[in-house]
Order: sequence, then C-alpha cells, then structure tokens
Amino acid sequence: MHWKVLTFLVCLFGFLKEFRPSEAYMSAYLTGPWKNLTIEEINNEIYPIWTYAYLLWLVPVFLLTDYVRYQPILVIEGATYIATWSILLWAQGVLAFQFMEVCYGLITASDIAYYAYLFAMVSNEQYKIITSFTRAALLIGRCSAYLTGQLLVSFNVMDYKQLNIISMVSVSMAFCLALTLRRPSNSEIFHSKRHDENNDKTGSSANHESPNVQKPTFKRGILFLWNELKTAYSDKSVIAWSVFWAFASCGHGQVRNYIQNLWEVITSDDQNGTIYNGAVEAFGTLISFIGVLVFGFLPVNWSRPGLSETIMAMVCVLNAAGLTVMGLSTNIWVSYAVYSGFRATYHTVISLATLQIAKSLTRQRYGFVFGVNTFMALVVETLLTVIIVDKVGLNLDVQTQFTVYGGYFGVIGCLFISVAFYTVYKNGCSCRVASDKIYTLSDPKPNPA
Ligand SMILES: *[C@@H]1O[C@H](CO)[C@@H](O)[C@H](O)[C@H]1NC(C)=O
Repeated sequence: MHWKVLTFLVCLFGFLKEFRPSEAYMSAYLTGPWKNLTIEEINNEIYPIWTYAYLLWLVPVFLLTDYVRYQPILVIEGATYIATWSILLWAQGVLAFQFMEVCYGLITASDIAYYAYLFAMVSNEQYKIITSFTRAALLIGRCSAYLTGQLLVSFNVMDYKQLNIISMVSVSMAFCLALTLRRPSNSEIFHSKRHDENNDKTGSSANHESPNVQKPTFKRGILFLWNELKTAYSDKSVIAWSVFWAFASCGHGQVRNYIQNLWEVITSDDQNGTIYNGAVEAFGTLISFIGVLVFGFLPVNWSRPGLSETIMAMVCVLNAAGLTVMGLSTNIWVSYAVYSGFRATYHTVISLATLQIAKSLTRQRYGFVFGVNTFMALVVETLLTVIIVDKVGLNLDVQTQFTVYGGYFGVIGCLFISVAFYTVYKNGCSCRVASDKIYTLSDPKPNPA
C-alpha cells in the first residue's frame, strides 16, 4: 500500500474514533433521566475508576503494543470503544458504569498505538510530515464532534442519548477501518534488528524449540528498554522538565476528568438555560491549537537561562488562581471563560516543556521517555484521586476539588519560581558557563560488562 493511502486511512481512523458528539455531555447524560445516577455517584465512585484503570493498563499496553506490532492494538481500541458505548447506551447502575470506566482506561492507554503505527510503517523523512497530519486528524475530529453536539443540542434536534448513538456509529466505523490495516514488519523494542544484532552472541543456538524462541527476545527487549531509559534520563534537564511535564499533566488530567461535573453542579440551579459544554470544548481545543502554533513561531531564544522556567511558573500561578475562582464561583460563564484560558495556557506551556525534553532525545527515546512521564503523571493523579476524590478518601464534592487543584498548581508554580530565580542567579554569577550543552547520542556510555 502506498504511504499516502496508508496515512489517509490512519488519519480517517483517528478522525472517526474522535468524532463523538456526546463527549461533552457525558455527565449530563449519566445524571439525566436515561441513567438517573446522582452527581455524587459519578463524581466520587465512577469517574475515579478511569484514573486507576488507565494506570493499570498503561504498562502492559505499552509493552504489548510494540510486541504485537501496533495494528492489533488499534483493533482492540476500536472493539473497546464499541463495548464502552454499548454499556453507555444499554446498561444501568453504578457497577456497570464503573466497568465502563475500566474499558475507557484501556482506550486511553491504547492511544499510543495510533502514533506508533505510522512511525513503524513509514520512513523517517515521511514521518516528519505525517505526524502533523495525524495530530490534525484528531483535532479536527474532536472539534467537529464538539460543534456537532452543541448544534444538535442547542437546536433541540437530538437529546444526549441520540448523540451517544452517533458516537457509537462513528467508533464502530473506526473499528472496521482498523481491521483493514496491515501490520508493520518490525517494531521498536521487541523486533528491532538494531539490538538483536548486538546480542547475537548470547547463545541463540542453544535452544531451537519454537515455544522458547519468543522468551529471550522479550527479555532482551526489556533490557534494551531499560538501557535506553537510563541513557535518556542521565541528562539532568530531561529529568527536571519531565517532572514538570508529569505534574502539570496530572493537574490538567484531573481538571479534564471532573470539569463536566462542576458545570453540572453549577447549571443545576437554573434549569432553563442551555448548556454550552460542546461549544466551550471546541473553542478550548481551537485556541490551544492556535496558542501552541503562535508560540512555536515566536522569535524567542528559549535556551536563555531562566526564561522558560519563568513562563511556566507564571502560567502555573495563573492556573492556580483560575482554578480557585472556578471552585468558588457559581457563575457558569466565569467557569467557561476561565476553563478556556486554562486549557490554552496549559497546552502552550506543555508544548514548551515537550520541546525542552525532546531537544536532547532521539526519535526512538522520545517515545519511551514520554511513556515513563505519562506513567509518573498517572501515579500522582491516582494518589490525588484516592485521597481527594474517592469515596474511600476525603470524598470531596467537585467544587472543593477544584480549589484543591488550584492549590496544587500554586505549589508547582512556587517550585518553578524558585527554579527560575536559582537559574538566573547561577548564570548571573558565572556568565561564561555554556548553557546550551549538547548531548551526543552517537557515543553511548561504554558498558562495563
Ligand atoms: C429515571 O427517573 C425518572 C423520574 O423519576 C423516571 O421517569 C425514569 O423512568 C427513570 N429512568 C430509569 C432508567 O430508571
């Protein structure tokens, strides 16, 4: 198959799986007459399960994705989407929706296969062009789904259940498309020629039994992965930015997971107003995209000491203030506006952090490092969820939760203000220190074996 056709099919898959007009009305649907769940049930018993499930699925799916070579994971993702929407449409009760969140966690974890698949199918120079297409496909899918949902709701064409039927049709088409895709012949970790050649002398002639052939490959794959990560994280700046990336992503993930509950609580007081969740999410997606784009083209030298730290600290402090306002305010328009600002500034700084991490990594290590960073973010998110949100923990209502997230961003902000001051102070004292260290990947550390 020609790579252009393949890219088109993968982008179409990305569009279809993201085209879920019901997405912005999940809480409204679950608390509505279709399911009759209470806001406390979805907030403190159902939504927390997604975080735990995502954490549990992440590592096995990360390893398995590479091991089975991507395409089967896309099929599994499609099938799980269908399972999730079947539960949404036809099941009742808290337990069913807790199970739905377990499925949703699997979907989120298998998202890595979407990018990794094309990465393995096309050559290096094509990949650079293609990656912007695959991202755009997701964004366009999401944006058009949010807008479609908003228009259908605003003009009273459909109710939330009917929106879920559209989502079901769309993800089912994505599933069928995934079935037609071909598996790539090699992968990064377990079927890579690169490290197989290096380890040829480790007695591959010793056992020829076919069931045992896979075992050493898997072990070698894990060893290879471990060495790659050790090399990647031996850079101090990679560690520092990864920590920021993980903590900020964690806060953003919590806000995204519970924002609809907040709006549900605020709008429940006046029943006569339409809810604008879809429009706000579409707007938020769009201005985040524009923010990242504009930021990327600004003629600023980001390696100037202390500059990016200062910007990140400022954004964290702003987000802290914004989230606190959201937790205290009972005006839906204030909440919508602050949320849009939160999303746009978060995406902009996180793209800056991603840039800082990526500039000292190779294309291969990039994927591993962001896998580990996502895992760190999820560990923190799980802790926050258990302590703050879950019924077994503090069991906080959604408004109090948001003020806590405000405090959380305040702490990260303070941390980065200190880092910024320290960096400026250190560089002010010794102006001859070369700040842009170049990390050479071509000469790996000699292995003392
Ligand atoms: C939810 O509650 C409403 C009003 O009490 C009732 O009419 C409806 O049948 C209930 N739906 C379900 C699925 O239990």
